[in-house]
Amino acid sequence: MTWLITGGAGYIGAHVVRAMTEAGERTVVYDDLSTGLADRVPDGVPLVVGSTLDGERVARALVGHGITGVVHLAAKKQVGESVERPLHYYRENVEGLRVLLDAVTAAGVRSFVFSSSAAVYGMPDVDLVTEETPCAPMSPYGETKLAGEWLVRAAGRAAGLSTACLRYFNVAGAARPDLADTGVFNLIPMIFEKLTEDAPPRVFGDDYPTPDGTCVRDYIHVVDLAEAHVAAARALRSAPGRDLTVNIGRGEGVSVREMIDRVNALTGHDRPPVVTPRRPGDPARVVASADRAATELAWKARHTVDDMITSAWQGWTRLHPEAGRH
Ligand code: WQD
Repeated sequence: MTWLITGGAGYIGAHVVRAMTEAGERTVVYDDLSTGLADRVPDGVPLVVGSTLDGERVARALVGHGITGVVHLAAKKQVGESVERPLHYYRENVEGLRVLLDAVTAAGVRSFVFSSSAAVYGMPDVDLVTEETPCAPMSPYGETKLAGEWLVRAAGRAAGLSTACLRYFNVAGAARPDLADTGVFNLIPMIFEKLTEDAPPRVFGDDYPTPDGTCVRDYIHVVDLAEAHVAAARALRSAPGRDLTVNIGRGEGVSVREMIDRVNALTGHDRPPVVTPRRPGDPARVVASADRAATELAWKARHTVDDMITSAWQGWTRLHPEAGRH
């Protein structure tokens, strides 16, 4: 099979391309390079520069490269920005997906893996979030991921396309320093940024109903996440007509305070955090049940939180040589 990886020049997409090619799959990257980096695309993997909103370009890529499966990661992913620019997010994430699915179904592609998010659950009031936990997204970003799942399932049913919606929990880490996330939008890089500035990391609220009062999340190493895509791609190929929705997490909660302590310890710092007000819209606890991924995909995370921090720090110090001086 040949897989088109949309968003394959992005942080997660580049790891998916790496895992798929290492598993012996042929891949082609489709990316508009709005946030992706051409350097992340390995030698020997074709790169088509284009938007998924450009149906003709997508159709040419599908036919020209003999594509039989698609992994769709291309999307906007900043929650705060989605609140300010909801129409932009709906256009990029929902309309971009609709146009892509139109071309995919017309080209007779058999398998479609969609990059969804734990953001579809919103503020789940459960210890472990299963795929049956009701979806109630809290941001336009989460809404576009949920609407995306609906589009994927509906188009899949109508066209006999096997589909998998992978709901990523909190992704971190890197396979290599040059593949690390370059953005500073999530907890681990935000801690790194503060330590590099010789400032205390921030805890956004410590009065949540959790054991230490700080928010609890399920962090997943991007290498494990990428391997989940390989498992999903194989599950779809071996069973036409499937319609999978699967959480991709470790099934273990880590609090903000625990994360800051581990980052301090692993990067040679000793910087106590400051507590600042809650960030609006943050749920107290979001931790996956990883059972369905184990049974349906025979996939399980292998990397620890320490692996995530260490590999992310290597990527950070590559981009910020001044880091580690404090
Ligand atoms: C984690 C926890 C913060 C920075 C978001 C999206 C999700 C996905 C991943 C998409 C929260 C706290 C953070 C800091 C802190 N996005 N925090 N101090 O909010 O769980 O998930 O990113 O692609 O859809 O919702 O992740 O890393 O922003 O925050 O206390 O300096 O860390 O309040 O509790 P979040 P995050």
